[in-house]
Amino acid sequence: MTAVGIDAIEIRSGKLKLDLPGTFAPQKGDDPEKYTKGLGLTNSSFPDVYEDIVTMGANAAKRLMDRKGLTPDDVGRIDVATESAFDHSKPVSTYIAGCLEGVYDDDFTHANKGERKFACVAGTQAVDDAYNWIRAGRNRGRSALVIATDTALYARGDPGEATQGAGAVAMLIDADPDLVELSIHQGYGSKDETDFLKPNQQFPSVDGKRSMQVYLSRMREALEDYESVSGKIYLDDFAYAPFHTPFPGMVRKAALLAYRHVIRDTTHEDELAGEIGRQPREDEYADREAYEEAIRGYMDELKTTDQYRTWYDDAVEPTLGLAREVGNWYTGSVHIARVSALRNALERDREFVGDTLLVASYGSGAQAEIHAETVREGWREEIGALDVDEQLAARYDLSWDEYEDVHDVHEYDKDLDREVEAFTPPDSEFVFTGWGRMNERQYEYVE
Ligand code: COA
Repeated sequence: MTAVGIDAIEIRSGKLKLDLPGTFAPQKGDDPEKYTKGLGLTNSSFPDVYEDIVTMGANAAKRLMDRKGLTPDDVGRIDVATESAFDHSKPVSTYIAGCLEGVYDDDFTHANKGERKFACVAGTQAVDDAYNWIRAGRNRGRSALVIATDTALYARGDPGEATQGAGAVAMLIDADPDLVELSIHQGYGSKDETDFLKPNQQFPSVDGKRSMQVYLSRMREALEDYESVSGKIYLDDFAYAPFHTPFPGMVRKAALLAYRHVIRDTTHEDELAGEIGRQPREDEYADREAYEEAIRGYMDELKTTDQYRTWYDDAVEPTLGLAREVGNWYTGSVHIARVSALRNALERDREFVGDTLLVASYGSGAQAEIHAETVREGWREEIGALDVDEQLAARYDLSWDEYEDVHDVHEYDKDLDREVEAFTPPDSEFVFTGWGRMNERQYEYVE
């Protein structure tokens, strides 16, 4: 069976940054370590006044197409995943295709375009759609462009304000891919939950603590479902485990849960038994409460063991590098976790072809998905071509007053009583230019 997966990837960060320990914490009267150690975040990326989900998505897609030498005729499908759409009818992919058609000679008339919505897991779902389309043989030799793009902004004063971010990830899905092959096996955990939602509103209603519980429950179900098709998995099977990362502190909790699950009934559990005992089994306890209490005690000890720390430091910590610098990119978040892992492998000059990743996506509302990915021959060149370090280094560092201004600019219903100038000069990129006759957002390419 021909391999299908991610052929190329590009990242586009918002061009502004908010320093969380340096600028945000003092304003909130918080200890900076709440952000750096507790949530695990240093900075958030923010969109400049002329940036939005369309410009970031189109800029990522253009760089990807130029780098891979593609024209619109090579792309048979454009799917956008976002939780930040400003249009309830016309998909964001049409706006992005419109931007791209402005700079290429031919057009995307032949391409199927759509928009995927299921909170943060939608980016992975759009990759799935592309995978299925190619596997079904409907692609006529063309590739699919998947763009996960979000401005993850929260209302001012909401606890989620600490975990904001803005950026886009463009991925080319193709047969015989250069970067990673996707596994045919998948696991799901999916339930109707009310943890994070935006019913006819721009900023989310979030029950952050509940969302964390729901994330962990759906992940456990997805892991069990994945094992029901793949067979028992072992930690040594995977070089890295990129998780959806709303903030790195969340992944710290999810990784511990996954580790406990995966080592149960294995030699890893036996090896630890002398130090911290065996894992509690439910049938050994009088009721659920007593069992859960015992599990919490076991987890507290597990996370201090050398065995767990070594796995976490090798397989999980390297996936958090970009998230610490950019915050939550919603649909793009798990995809920058994958990129962080691959960048770590490159930095370590790791022999990596044929190694596998265990990729765990999550979307509030709520659904988790788990699959494996196998690293392909071209990974080194693909990851080496990214310019994300340059983008992050070039971000404009917002003062508190500037942050308030730019947040107001991006709030659709806010009547601004002042002009807010761009903080950075646009340079060879798509920019937002204003609203049109039918209330559509308009764009142009600035040389
Ligand atoms: N030093 C070190 N750690 C500190 C600290 C300090 N001085 N102060 C606090 N912390 C830790 C806390 O113990 C906590 O870690 P823990 O959960 O492991 O105990 C963490 O920092 C966060 O502190 P907390 O008081 O819980 O923060 P909060 O009440 O302001 O809110 C969230 C945190 C995550 C609930 C909030 O940011 C949120 O709602 N984010 C949005 C989540 C979201 O969008 N979910 C949906 C998408 S998946």
